[in-house]
Amino acid sequence: MQKLVIEGGKRLEGKIRISGSKNASLPVLMASIMADSDVTLENVPALKDIHTSLKLLTLLGCKSELYNGTAGIQAGDLVPEAPYDLVRTMRASVLCLGPLLARLGRAKVALPGGCAIGTRPVDQHLRGLEQMGARFELESGYIMGKCRRLNGAHIILDLPTVGGTENLLMAASLARGETVLENAAKEPEITDLANFLNACGARISGHGTSVIRIQGVDSLQGCRYRVMSDRIEAGTYMVAAAITHGDILLSNCPDKELDAVTGKLREMGVIISPEPEGFRVVSDGDLQGVDVVTLPYPGFPTDMQAQIMALMCVAAGTGTIKETIFENRFLHALELNRMGARIKLSGQNAVVRGGANLVGAPVMASDLRASASLVLAGLKARGITEVQRIYHLDRGYEAMEKKLEAVGARIRREKEN
Ligand code: UD1
Repeated sequence: MQKLVIEGGKRLEGKIRISGSKNASLPVLMASIMADSDVTLENVPALKDIHTSLKLLTLLGCKSELYNGTAGIQAGDLVPEAPYDLVRTMRASVLCLGPLLARLGRAKVALPGGCAIGTRPVDQHLRGLEQMGARFELESGYIMGKCRRLNGAHIILDLPTVGGTENLLMAASLARGETVLENAAKEPEITDLANFLNACGARISGHGTSVIRIQGVDSLQGCRYRVMSDRIEAGTYMVAAAITHGDILLSNCPDKELDAVTGKLREMGVIISPEPEGFRVVSDGDLQGVDVVTLPYPGFPTDMQAQIMALMCVAAGTGTIKETIFENRFLHALELNRMGARIKLSGQNAVVRGGANLVGAPVMASDLRASASLVLAGLKARGITEVQRIYHLDRGYEAMEKKLEAVGARIRREKEN
């Protein structure tokens, strides 16, 4: 195992190029198995989760490779099984369920368990697919799905689940007739998936709103597609600039998809200005605590909650955070407190008393974004912070320590004892 060792207190200055979006690449890679011909994807980040997805595609019978940000996928004779060993390392593997059922009429996919941040069931994925004619049984921890050709259906989701919307969108693209998906998630990554599917010949409209209409088609063709950039990575480096009183230009950066994040950061006092190349993020350190509620898009993303909490620890005044998406997503707060933060938790609410003088410490996180918040705190803290178990970070941040080092951070990767 490896850890990141950070010597805090350095002002960050320079340019960071934002990578392709992890959460957009994962469903688009899974959707590629529905195409009859080759798919080429650009702006794909070299991340652990992406390599896991490519491994899954290989197990499913496709040829795939990733080189220099471009992924090539050739669908072959599909094998409809996603094994437990893989699904347990990446929950998003469940996104192959819809494509496999649509393409082959059968699927055997390990049921993802709970994870550190919550129970995360997939009932909405299954219920929607059932409405389209699929039948499921649970056998030895596997979801066994079967169907003849899926039929379009009118599906009203109980809640706007991102993965559920993606699975149903993919399945409906090859179903017979029209599917209407109500209370669908509106995340930009869903819009990106729909744009990709449309480029392959699907007929989807309304993506980006809560009602998506899909006219099923008989087949999809491969295409060349550029995946959107990562809005959460961009938000994380915005906080890095702010917490170090720095000046960073983010290139290849999403724009309006970041509105909720840039809005809150500006409210805190961070100066964010659009430039031809991306966003310039500057802070003189005069920051104020704010109140944040995580919500489905276009609300403030739960995937930025841990990072803004780190910033609120050092801002003036008291701020609050209400986490409404996941039931157990405050584990980083306890680690931040070990570094001198003053965060009080009560159920889904956190009260962050600002003005903390963070001090470096060995810390450990149990999920991806929590790890990022500890790195951010480490960049600010006096002394040395050691962030352990960084395999979480490697799942979602491409070359994080290299990007930070290039703008002046003292950070290095070391083996954990
Ligand atoms: C995706 C993102 C993740 C992000 C999350 C919320 C990917 C690979 N992951 O996760 O980074 O934090 O969206 O923006 O894109 N739920 C149910 N039943 C279901 C499905 C979900 O109750 O069938 C609940 C979950 O337990 C959770 C909430 O709905 O409390 C949101 O989950 P969902 O939107 O599905 O998140 P993911 O797609 O897993």
